[in-house]
Amino acid sequence: MIIAIDGPAGSGKSTIAKKLAEELDFVYLDTGAMYRLVTLKALNEKVSFNLLKNIINLSESKNNNSDFEIIQNMKKILENLNIDIKKNRFFLDEIDVSDEIRKPVISENVSNIAKIKEVREKLVDLQRKFSKSENVILDGRDIGTVVFPNAELKIFLMADAMERAKRRYKELVLKNEDVTLDEIYKNIVERDKIDSTRKESPLVKAQDAVEIDTTFKTIEEVKEEIEKILKNKI
Ligand code: C5P
Repeated sequence: MIIAIDGPAGSGKSTIAKKLAEELDFVYLDTGAMYRLVTLKALNEKVSFNLLKNIINLSESKNNNSDFEIIQNMKKILENLNIDIKKNRFFLDEIDVSDEIRKPVISENVSNIAKIKEVREKLVDLQRKFSKSENVILDGRDIGTVVFPNAELKIFLMADAMERAKRRYKELVLKNEDVTLDEIYKNIVERDKIDSTRKESPLVKAQDAVEIDTTFKTIEEVKEEIEKILKNKI
């Protein structure tokens, strides 16, 4: 069985997906973390690939996904990509980078990497392979629309942007990150815009997804609501 949970940053997807997976004894796959791993790899390679400049260019103009140099650089990165996920820890080239991929520099660049077609093809393929013969809960932006359009249950979580920014801000402050609420808010709004307007698999609610607004709800309330929907389905 596949449960797809989509929605924008800070809507509660990963917290709720993780809890549900524990309770239902499902495997959990955080697909956003996979895009973050590729972004970290791309940033690490910036000297040899001169990628940082390209990433900035990419975010400044709209239709340059076809830019030959960027695509060639990304193809090399994707060919040599060595990512792994074990017990909700994320590994790049066999190094545990679970904390590093949550840093603001990754959040600032990830949506520009995630809009590249070649990146999406590679990661969607890995996500499907990972989910073979398992009961899996996946969270992301395109799970119910592209990765698993036949998922048995599709949930679309959303929440007010400032509320989402406050949630992220609290998480980052707990990790001693030097950030302001305003920076986080701007990043969330910017990512929403890039993710929902990109050409490849934009962030949209699947027609058959159940939408839940989590702005004024606790994690427990949202989890219970999803469990109820699931019970009615089985
Ligand atoms: O979920 P998280 O906020 O960690 O995702 C980081 C970024 O990865 C998103 O803003 C989006 O650009 C990209 N993403 C995506 N498709 C997914 C999951 C994440 O494009 N399925």
